[in-house]
Amino acid sequence: MNDNTIDSLREALKHSPDNAPLRQLLADTLWTLNRVEEAETEYSMLLKLTNDNKAKIGLAKVFFKKGSYSACNVILEEVIDNGTSDINVFTLYVKGLLKENSTAKAIEAYKKALAIEPNYFDEELDNQLRLRGRDEITGTDEEADSRFLQKPNINFSDVGGMEVVKKEIELKIIKPLLHPELYKAYGKKIGGGILLYGPPGCGKTFIAKATAGQVNAKFISVSLNDILDMWIGNSEKNLHDIFELARHNIPCVLFIDEIDALGASRSDMKQSSGRHLINQFLQELDGINSTNEGVLIIGATNTPWNLDPAFRRPGRFDRIVFVPPPDETTRESILRLKLNNKPIETIDFRAIAKKTEHYSGADIDAIIDLAIEEKLEASFNDGVPKPLATGDLVSALKKHKPSTQEWFSTAKNFAMFANDSGLYDDILTYMKIKK
Ligand SMILES: Nc1ncnc2c1ncn2[C@@H]1O[C@H](COP(=O)(O)OP(=O)(O)OP(=O)(O)O)[C@@H](O)[C@H]1O
Ligand SMILES: [Mg+2]
Repeated sequence: MNDNTIDSLREALKHSPDNAPLRQLLADTLWTLNRVEEAETEYSMLLKLTNDNKAKIGLAKVFFKKGSYSACNVILEEVIDNGTSDINVFTLYVKGLLKENSTAKAIEAYKKALAIEPNYFDEELDNQLRLRGRDEITGTDEEADSRFLQKPNINFSDVGGMEVVKKEIELKIIKPLLHPELYKAYGKKIGGGILLYGPPGCGKTFIAKATAGQVNAKFISVSLNDILDMWIGNSEKNLHDIFELARHNIPCVLFIDEIDALGASRSDMKQSSGRHLINQFLQELDGINSTNEGVLIIGATNTPWNLDPAFRRPGRFDRIVFVPPPDETTRESILRLKLNNKPIETIDFRAIAKKTEHYSGADIDAIIDLAIEEKLEASFNDGVPKPLATGDLVSALKKHKPSTQEWFSTAKNFAMFANDSGLYDDILTYMKIKK
């Protein structure tokens, strides 16, 4: 490809000036030969012939090269609105936006690029977004504090059953908090956290919150997915800030939900930003630069098998606790707790508990809600609240099926075929597959 090629292309175009593919070829060739001005002329003429994305992208590249970033971005926005999945379009757009200091938009666009191609990685872009994103966090520290800090008004007495889980929490994190000197006397290291896992709606979040109330500590609850989604490249700082918030508010229960978001198998965790985040998290857990004394760390996940084994080392989440669906006694106490101070007749709690095998705590909440809605409707007629009766709950549970079995069908496979040194024995025992 050389100047001769250009000449013959121009010659050919003289005879058929409306031949779009030919003009595209000329424009692209000029671009490749770095004859930017001429390429611009050809792309512009081409756009009069067609409304093709290729011509637009060519022109956008020219504008970028010439430093006309806003013109470049306007064109690319149009291409993107037309629904392109060309990763190069997105990355050029990110670069254009960064030139114009539109960091937030650039981050958005970079995320879209990563959605198209999860393994895409551009060192320069990654670094730039990381650095700039850092200045973008809005809101003051106080705002962040009030958003995350809670003072729970529930304790273990509000949690029905769950004796095994309560005991683990007691031993592993409450006792060390109350008697640090005893642990020190025996040379036993304090620290590390508990990881709760199990089917959805069975009380993981609830018991973490109650733990805070139990020891009169503050409660910070975050979901790792929220931290991940906030900003690319900012995740580490966000994570660090949360740990710092906890350290400044001891005693404090730091509850981190959706820990599996750091799973080694997730494609976005293979990005360099993902690896950074995992390392940052491990450092925070280890308390490398600051002590975690007085911070009780409780993690939760529905899919522990997605978690990087590095998290399970001593001093990190070295206690993995299964939170099963409530058993009959637990279901009875959940029912009593939830119906306490509602208008009820004498209710056969035991009968309902018997009928609700496989129902989670959240399912039981839902049944009560359903039953109450029905009663409310009936009460509208004369304005008198009708008390809830056993029959109301029974008919409500026909409308709401238990939600925990699906989880077990997946969990069973991991427990049977990937049961890393008996990690999931509790699942097998629960399912009566193993004693
Ligand atoms: N043992 C229990 N005692 C009293 N209420 C319970 C109990 N277990 C669950 N619940 C009720 O069920 C609801 C759902 O529980 P929770 O949100 O803690 O579940 P989860 O295990 O965190 O679920 P997910 O995995 O979906 O996050 C709670 O708000 C609570 O009202
Ligand atoms: Mg939860």
